[in-house]
Order: sequence, then structure tokens, then C-alpha cells
Amino acid sequence: MTSTLLTGAGELFGHPHLVSPALVTDGDRIAWVGEQREAPEADAVVELAGRAVLPGFVDSHSHLVFAGDRSAEFAARMAGEPYAAGGIRTTVAATRAATDEQLTAHVARLLGEMRRQGTTTVEVKSGYGLTVHDEARSLAVARQFTDETTFLGAHVVPAEHAEDPAAYVDLVTGPMLEACAPHARWIDVFCERGAFDDDQARAVLSAGERAGLRGRLHANQLGPGPGVRLACELGLAAVDHCTYLEPADVEALRGSGTVATLLPGVEWSTRQPYPDARALLDAGVRIALASDCNPGSCFTSSLPFCIAVAVREMGLTPAEAVTAATAGGAAALGRTDVGRLEVGARADLAVLEASSHVHLAYRPGVPLVAQTWVGGRPV
Ligand code: NIG
Ligand code: FE
Repeated sequence: MTSTLLTGAGELFGHPHLVSPALVTDGDRIAWVGEQREAPEADAVVELAGRAVLPGFVDSHSHLVFAGDRSAEFAARMAGEPYAAGGIRTTVAATRAATDEQLTAHVARLLGEMRRQGTTTVEVKSGYGLTVHDEARSLAVARQFTDETTFLGAHVVPAEHAEDPAAYVDLVTGPMLEACAPHARWIDVFCERGAFDDDQARAVLSAGERAGLRGRLHANQLGPGPGVRLACELGLAAVDHCTYLEPADVEALRGSGTVATLLPGVEWSTRQPYPDARALLDAGVRIALASDCNPGSCFTSSLPFCIAVAVREMGLTPAEAVTAATAGGAAALGRTDVGRLEVGARADLAVLEASSHVHLAYRPGVPLVAQTWVGGRPV
């Protein structure tokens, strides 16, 4: 195995006490972290010239498998139209019409964008196929790129089942789940008025659990509702959006192991109110920041953008926002091997063209990620 010493870093995120920080990778892992003068020998040396080293970002929520474009819907929203879940059906039609090759090329392009912006672990959902065949092939495409794949057959009720949503839930919990479970680690439901209610979400999540999938939930995005409390009751790894929280939701999150995943790009792109991340942290709730990259509610692939918005609009310090986009995302995926610069963790790194993580919020919109390392190698 090849070892590499990264030296001259301006900062190793999470190790503020180090005066001249250095890091050694061995194979795909971090083997050593400490003061440069105490660093062990390595096969190769990389001089970082004052650049900050952060854990690679962990984007725990994305919908990359889709075709088509909804920029006109975005423009209409900026002219005053509200965001509505109904737009999902537009993308479903385009996705069904796309070939496997087109879907694969599109995911590859978006993952390339993410990687250039420092993301090294990404969760990818299905949810724009909504037939047995189209959900299974969406997940097969996603699985070529990541192990963190999520079956979201319960995204919305597709038009052909509009008259009989119960029959669609039977399809999702029966043949669709059977076809999708081999390609997925997680199961998700959009638990919201206009999508699926809490009883339907329970049915889908428990069928998923019987098929060996762990649960996560989209909840409280468009208004208050039962989703956040349901996620906490069921002990799900994460509940995502959390835009409209009531005191009972915060109370439930506080006493649970469920991570509240905040998606500030969605509020930015739909002109909804930002959730109060400061209040969640102060209440002792574990939070993550993710992109939710999708063609409707938020088409950004950039966690640096989400970090900047979370700092400016949601009351987080830059360090809290970076932690939420790294260790927080890892927790939302039940992972301890990514999201932190510690011995034994994967050597997944984001090296900034700046001396500290603060610049991600201080210089919003500037492409500050100079290098992304995956498994001990720059990519
Ligand atoms: O996470 N909320 C449900 N799903 C996506 C949006 C999907 C779309 O509008 O295409 C989300 O926001
Ligand atoms: Fe989403």
C-alpha cells in the first residue's frame, strides 16, 4: 500500500489545536494526524501550501436519476408561483422515456459536478420511475456509482394510479419492493399532504424493513405534519427537510437517534422559510446538511453552496455547517468511516484554495475546492 504525507496544510478541519497540521494516508485510510514535525515517513509527500483540508462532504440526500428539465417551473416560481409536488410527474414522464444509457450519463455528469465541489460520499434515490421496471432500473443505474442507494417508489402516486392510491401502495410494498430491494440499502417515503400520509408511510417502511432495507423519510417540507414524529418513533436514521417544525417535532427529535437533515437549497429555490438550525442544535438535535439535488425543488449539486446558505440564513457557524455536511451526513447514513479526519477513517478529503473552512461561507459562489481525494487518491 502507498502512503502519502500531506504537509503544510493551513488547517485540518476538526483539529484546531494543531499549529502546523499534517496528515498521512495509507492505502484508502487516514493513518496519522498530528504536528508536521512529528510526522512519520511516507512514500510520497504532497505540499499543500497553506490550503485547508476538510473531510470530503457527505451528501446524504439526492435524486440524481432523472431526465428532463424544469427550469421553466423554476422561472415561474421566481415570478410568484408556489412550489407543488405535482411537478414530480413531469420528471417521471421524461425519466420513463429515457434510455438506461441516457440516465447513466446524466448521473455521471452530476456526480462529476459534486466531486469537483468536494463531495466524496453521496446517497442517490430512485423515485422518478414509479413502475416496477423504471424504479428497478433507476436503482441499478445509481448502484453503479454508490452503495448508498434508496428506493423511493413512494415519491408520489403516479397519474395512472391517481384514482386508486391504495393499489399503488400495494404495488410499492409488493412487486416493486421485490424488484428494487436487491439494488438498494435504504427505503424512503415522501410523507406529505399530496403525497403519502403517515399510515401509508408506515406500511411502506415496514415492508421495506422486512425486505432488509433501512428507513428514512421526507417530511414536513410543505407544511407541518406527522412525518418527523413518525421517523423518530420508528427510530429511522434520518428525517429530511424539516422545514415546518412544531415544538413537539423538536421534542421528538431531541430524544431520538434520528438525524434531522436540512436542505437549505430547497428553501432557497422555493422561497420557503429556512428551518431554524440554530434552535435545533441548541435543543440537542443532531443535524445534517445535504443538497437534495433534483430537477424540481432544488437543482444544486453544491454542498459549499448549502454550507454558505446555512451559515447566512439558518444561524449556523461555519464550523457547525461543515460538521453537518460531513460528520452529520455520515450519521444520517449510519456511517462512521467517512465525514471526519481521524485515524482509521477513509482518506476522503476536500482541499480548499483557502486557508480555512470559514471561506466556504465568507466567499460564497467561489469555486474553492482545489482537490478532492477519494480513498487516499486525488480524483
Ligand atoms: O426532496 N419532496 C419530494 N421530492 C423532492 C422534490 C422532487 C421534485 O420536485 O421533483 C424533494 O424536494
Ligand atoms: Fe428529496
